[in-house]
Amino acid sequence: MNNKCIELLQQGSLVAFPTETVYGLGADATNPDAIRKVFAAKGRPADHPLIVHLPNIEHIYQWAINIPASAIKLAHKYWPGPLTLILQKHPNVDPLITGGQNTIALRIPNHPITLQLLKDFGKPLVGPSANKYGHVSPTTAQHVLEDLGDQVAAIIDGGPTDLGIESTIVSFICDHPQIVREGLITAKQLNIMAYDKQIKASGTCKSHYAPRTPIELFDEQVITALNNYSVISFKKNLAQPSADIYWETVATDQDDYAKNLYARLRKHDKLGKDKIFIEQVPSSWSAIKDRLSRAAADKN
Ligand code: TXA
Ligand code: MG
Repeated sequence: MNNKCIELLQQGSLVAFPTETVYGLGADATNPDAIRKVFAAKGRPADHPLIVHLPNIEHIYQWAINIPASAIKLAHKYWPGPLTLILQKHPNVDPLITGGQNTIALRIPNHPITLQLLKDFGKPLVGPSANKYGHVSPTTAQHVLEDLGDQVAAIIDGGPTDLGIESTIVSFICDHPQIVREGLITAKQLNIMAYDKQIKASGTCKSHYAPRTPIELFDEQVITALNNYSVISFKKNLAQPSADIYWETVATDQDDYAKNLYARLRKHDKLGKDKIFIEQVPSSWSAIKDRLSRAAADKN
């Protein structure tokens, strides 16, 4: 199967691949036409840069320059894994990838099928999450099919992704490393203090990861005049059962919550209710809290 996918990538076609976080929309990172196809398929603005997925750590020197030793240290510690590094881009890197910026996002994903694919292809792949721009990221091959089925040449089905939310992004552009997008590897683990919201990351637009149905977050209980809605809560439904209310009780387990978050949002979206009410998660679940508040943010 890899052979067919490699042929497609060599031809400049798009191949969606599984990672440990979410599915990526893969294309040859050295082929400008293929990169253009990625932006077109997602409907993504040209100034939202792509992550380059490397076959191995040695490739970092062909894509970035002036790499701080602390970044190399993190790469060795966490790659392959859910960590993306933002570094100064190598002058040879096509500005199409970086949205015209002089920085580049790099990572090595931790999924056996994709690691093999990268190794056999021998070149990096650009890989934004394989969803339409602004929509919920895909955690199964079926999700990719629903969003981009008519845009991709192939989807590699690696089953549901392990972690369920996108990689932590750390920028090494300023004096101190900064978290640009939170993920399951936390600032604390990385020993990074500041959380810089200024740096441009499309996943950091206020409304992102959003289903079409409006979302409202609640703390204690659902208070609403609506009678056709769905709920994601840690509590059991104590109200009168109603045909128009879909209540899902979920476990208080951070890993499980992250793993199922996007599939759950898609499922609730498909119910076509007037609103999805989601119980606020513990404040220590920082990356999940971040994704929920974006999903609930006003789309304008
Ligand atoms: O877990 C992940 O990171 C997944 C899997 C497929 O690897 N990929 C992913 O890609 O989430 P994407 O394109 O959906 O999100 C990448 C984020 C975007 O918010 C983008 O703006 C930001 O990374 N980014 C990319 N290059 C950047 C750069 N040079 N400076 C700042 N942000 C950058
Ligand atoms: Mg994305």
